[in-house]
Order: sequence, then C-alpha cells, then structure tokens
Amino acid sequence: MEVLSVASEAFPLVKTGGLADVVGALPAALAEQDVHVRTLLPGYPGVTDALRGGETVHLFEQLFGGPARVIAARVGGLDLLVLDAPHLFARRGNPYVSPAGQDWPDNPLRFAALARAGASIAQGLLPAWQPAVVHVHDWQAALVPAYLHYDGLPKRAGSVITVHNLAFQGQFPTLLLSSLGLPPSALSMDGVEYYGSIGYLKAGLRFADAITTVSPTYATEIRTAEAGMGLDGLIRQRGGMVQGILNGLDDDVWDPTTDKLLAGRFSAGSLAGRIANRAAVRTRMGLAHDAEAPLFAVISRLTWQKGMDLLPAIIPTLLAGGAQLAVLGAGDGAIEAAVQGAAASYPGQVGAVIGYDEALAHQIQGGADALLVPSRFEPCGLTQLSALRYGTVPVVARTGGLADTVIDASPMALAAGVATGVQFAPVSPEMVDAAIHRTIAIFHDKPVWQKMQANGMATDVSWRDPARRYAALFRSVAA
Ligand code: ADP
Ligand code: GLC
Repeated sequence: MEVLSVASEAFPLVKTGGLADVVGALPAALAEQDVHVRTLLPGYPGVTDALRGGETVHLFEQLFGGPARVIAARVGGLDLLVLDAPHLFARRGNPYVSPAGQDWPDNPLRFAALARAGASIAQGLLPAWQPAVVHVHDWQAALVPAYLHYDGLPKRAGSVITVHNLAFQGQFPTLLLSSLGLPPSALSMDGVEYYGSIGYLKAGLRFADAITTVSPTYATEIRTAEAGMGLDGLIRQRGGMVQGILNGLDDDVWDPTTDKLLAGRFSAGSLAGRIANRAAVRTRMGLAHDAEAPLFAVISRLTWQKGMDLLPAIIPTLLAGGAQLAVLGAGDGAIEAAVQGAAASYPGQVGAVIGYDEALAHQIQGGADALLVPSRFEPCGLTQLSALRYGTVPVVARTGGLADTVIDASPMALAAGVATGVQFAPVSPEMVDAAIHRTIAIFHDKPVWQKMQANGMATDVSWRDPARRYAALFRSVAA
C-alpha cells in the first residue's frame, strides 16, 4: 500500500521537536507492515543540501508567487518528495521563525503551498505514483484535506490527520482566503472558518477522513473544554473518527547497546556503561562527581507547556534531598535566564546547557538517574520513552502520553513489581516536590530502584505496535 506523508519537519534533516522524530521514524516501521511511505517536505536549505542527485518529478510554473518543483530522492532511509520553492523555503535556521525571532510573515502561504502540493499529489499529480492515503501532520500540512474537499475530484487518496499538539493551530486572517486558492464558500463554520479567522488545523480536523493524536489519553483529553483549546466541539462532533495511537521510539537511533553518541554503552543485563555517561554529563555540566547524589535531569523545550517555569521553585527541594540537577534545553528567554541563574547560584549542584545538543541528550539519558517531565499537557512526549529505554527513571506529570507510558511506583505497583517511574498530578510546586521526595526515597532503596530500571528497559517503546495500528487505519481509510 502506498502512503504520502506530508509534514514540515523530519529527523534527521530538520527538527524542532518530537514531530520530526515521528515523521522520520514511522516510514521504516510501516515498511514492515507492507506500507510504503513517501514523505513530502519543504525544500529548506537543510533539506535540499542533503539531496544528492534526485530527480525532478514535477514542475509548477507558479506556486503561490514563484516557480517550484518536486524532487524525488532517498535520504537517510527516507523516500522523499521535496517541494523546492526557493521563494518560500530557501531560508536558513528555524523552519518557522526568522533570525529576528518572529514567525515568518508568509508562513500561511508557505505551508498552504506545502499542502497544495500534497493535495495535488494525492489526486494523481505524479503520473508514476498514486498514493492510496495521504497522512498529514499538524497545522502546517492540515490544509490538505480541505483542498481535497474543495477540489472535489472523484479520484483522490483517503486522508488521515495526526495532531501532535493542539496548541499550535495555524490561525490566519480571512483576507488570505482567495490567495490560498479556496472558494468564498469555504469561509463558513462548516468550512475553514475558525473564530473569525482561517484555521488550518480546524480545516484538517473538519475534512480529514480520520483523525489521530499521539496517545490514547490525549485523545480523550482533547474532547474536553480544558484541553480542547477551542477545537473540542469539532473533535467531539467527529466522534468515532478520532483515535489515539501512541508514539514509538526509533530503536536504531535509541539503542544503548550500539549508541555511538554515548560515552559508555550498556544493556539491561549490565548497566556498568552508565557510569561513564554520568561522569561525562557531570563534567560537561560542571557538577560534582558525587556517587551518592541522585542525578535528576531535564531535556526539554523550556516552556510553560513543559512546566519549566517551575524549576526555580523546585530546585531547593532537590538540593535539600541531596540530589543534583542537569538541564538541557532552550526556549523562553525568561526561563533560560532563570535556569542559568540557578546554575550560577548552586555551582556543582545545578548544571545547565542552553541550546540544542543531540549527543548530550543521549548521554544524559544514558547516565542520569531520573528524568523530570512536569508537563502541564503532553500529547505524547518522547523523552520519557528514551528514558525508559536507557534505564533513567521517568518522573512525570500524569497527563496525555506521560500517563499512558509510565507506571507509577504506587504501593500496589511496587508490591507487584511492575513500576517503571513516578507520576504526579496536578502540576504544582507542591506536587512536584512530593514526587521528588518519593523518587529520592526509592533511589536509596537499591533493589527497588534497580527493579524499576529493569522494568523500564523491558518496556516495549518501539514503533512495532503503533505501526500496526497506523497500517490498519490506513487500510480502512483507503477502502
Ligand atoms: P516536544 O516535541 O513537545 O518538544 P517531545 O518529547 O515529543 O516534545 O520531543 C522532544 C524531542 O526533542 C526529543 O527527541 C528530545 O530528545 C529532543 N530535545 C528536546 N530538547 C532538546 C535539546 N535541548 N537538545 C537535544 N534534544 C532535545
Ligand atoms: C508534539 C508534542 C509531543 C509529542 C510530539 C510528537 O511536539 O508536544 O508531546 O511527543 O509532538 O508526536
């Protein structure tokens, strides 16, 4: 079966978050389910630079203000279709934000162009390749189902939209409607109109044949006004067409027995290699080499969603418990400054690297004792999955995918020997403090702690089961 995936990022070519990990890893997992995926990506410089050779399979004389073409190429295991449109995508750096830190003003056109090209391919634009399903990710690709609807052609692929984060909706002024190539009739509540704007994600949710999000709990949460962010009504209305399919982890990228980014490799049978990773992290972060101190870590966007504004309030609890904290992240300026301030105030006990560092992320997962994920909401979350796989105990908020992937060390779960981490709710300094106390107490009970590490490492966080679910959904949508 042939599937076109349309997305604005894919690891390892372009990544701002977990979306890229998912888009980059799912095709290989689906191949094992006899689903062949081609991925349509914008031709940012980071993508076009990586194309060696490649074949132009379509030319657009004009696509939203300039000439464009579709290049087919295989890169890093992905079967790519690249939308090479220099007037829209030939810009270095973050794919959405200008060097001055503002969203590119033409983002509505850039991602409408991506969706326009995706919809056309889903309707047979490429003579040699007709997908049965088009799978679109997040608001950047969400106009695809709307174009399919308003084009009204008899022959088209079925459509599936996956919501990775409902907080990013792509809302733009209605005066753009005609430049997007949508008819005036589309500007209605039953079309792409959304609270007086054009809503890209809204349009996708309205017109896709099926909707998925990245965990079962998040699929339930987004039906409520609290987590639905204005779209809960539409999501409830689409009812049975909405399901949660948990994300997996790319087990080639995240394998502690072979990981080249680690200072020490290890396996569930022997964790000795973790010592070298812990030492490397402590050296890099300026932390004391204290074998007794539990090392807590954070690898995260430094944002309110991730609960990162709470770090200054909870650091005293961590330190009073004899623990250390290592933070790797970037995001809100105020939170970055607060984290750097804490590192300066508590030398040797709090360390921070502000920025994006793939190798350090792997070493932290391979060496820390606990990973703290105090997200206020979390559609799935991937760092708790790599933590499980690498023997770092996740300490997470009980929300979204974090609730679905970690088994709390409750008295019952401990007695049954099935716990894999610590959960808390709601997200407040008091509850995070209590979770930290609980974690430190278990850390000092070595047999229990080692059992939790072993349980985590034995948890199946691979793409195998999720890929089966996607494949089944694609087959039902194609039919
Ligand atoms: P989100 O996509 O909401 O940011 P996820 O947990 O789904 O959260 O995915 C985050 C991804 O980005 C993971 O692969 C994580 O390891 C990685 N990551 C986040 N921050 C950093 C950082 N500062 N350096 C390296 N990797 C990071
Ligand atoms: C989004 C979500 C995150 C999820 C990722 C991949 O970035 O915030 O929870 O893991 O997408 O689906």
